[in-house]
Amino acid sequence: MIIATPPAAADNTALRRIDVELGDRGYPVLIGPGARHELARFVARTGARRVAVVSARPPAWVPETGVPTLRVAAKDGEPGKSLAWVEELCGRFAEFGLTRDDAVVSVGGGTTTDAVGLAAALYHRGVPVIHLPTSLLAQVDASVGGKTAVNLSHGKNLVGAYWQPTAVLCDTDYLETLPPRERVNGYGEIARCHFIGAGDLRGLPLADQIAAGVALKASVVAADERDSGPRHVLNYGHTLGHALERATAFRLRHGEAVAVGTVFAGRLAGALGRIGDTRVAEHTEVVAHYGLPTRLPADAAVPDLITLMRRDKKATTGLAFVLDGPRGAEVVRDVAEHTVAAVLDAMPREAS
Ligand code: GLY
Repeated sequence: MIIATPPAAADNTALRRIDVELGDRGYPVLIGPGARHELARFVARTGARRVAVVSARPPAWVPETGVPTLRVAAKDGEPGKSLAWVEELCGRFAEFGLTRDDAVVSVGGGTTTDAVGLAAALYHRGVPVIHLPTSLLAQVDASVGGKTAVNLSHGKNLVGAYWQPTAVLCDTDYLETLPPRERVNGYGEIARCHFIGAGDLRGLPLADQIAAGVALKASVVAADERDSGPRHVLNYGHTLGHALERATAFRLRHGEAVAVGTVFAGRLAGALGRIGDTRVAEHTEVVAHYGLPTRLPADAAVPDLITLMRRDKKATTGLAFVLDGPRGAEVVRDVAEHTVAAVLDAMPREAS
């Protein structure tokens, strides 16, 4: 349980601002200490007369909205990402009298921003939503881009909508209270940015690393809001990463699994002659720099991983990966299974 006391309102001149350029659906992402205190200003901009705040954080961490506010405790975590929870939220909004001219606010990790974002997309066929992501993973990735979703028993994120927020406030004060493993987990999405156009972010202040990751994502989303191609590049390291999450029954967290997937992507690109040995080694160096795992789990069987990777949404005609190469990162389709198996077999393993 998080019991740390929030710092007082910070000097907001330190905030970084990235704009997601999507015309009339465009929005700013503010990043830095105290960003949450900008909430009332953005609520006022929506014109909302009342607001529903769904928060996974204790009340002391939820900023003032400036208008009458319904406060709902979030169900953070994958089991909370259900249609039943979205229905319950919409019912709470209706009981409160929220109208289509009002607004919804999410405060929490990626599972909260995903489910609350979907509730906002559906309630009255869409009300403005402002996200206050509280985990590093959600600040760098999940809260930006407009994809919202919940899970079915058949799989993750199977029911969702594109619903861009009105603003995203990434308050780095929230990150101070994260357990160390959760904080390192978030670096998985920052590490993969190194290989998809953000350049070397090692050594930068955390807010600048987040801002660089968000800027990269904003440019990709602006080019491909509805995930028709270019957005796949954001999935660097995710093909094996998703397989590892499932193969370990989610013992490996998302960012950790993406980190191992990033090392693998470098090795596979090397095996296919797309990059040289130095660049292959850079994958392990960058991932290790952020304190993330670089080795396959001891118990992850190669045939199982290949079966799971065949279910990846990019794998329409055969195994497909986002791989580095002479033109930068791009989707590479129909990669031979024996090559994938050989690269996995050669990966170092965690001790059992
Ligand atoms: N909400 C995450 C994304 O749109 O990618």
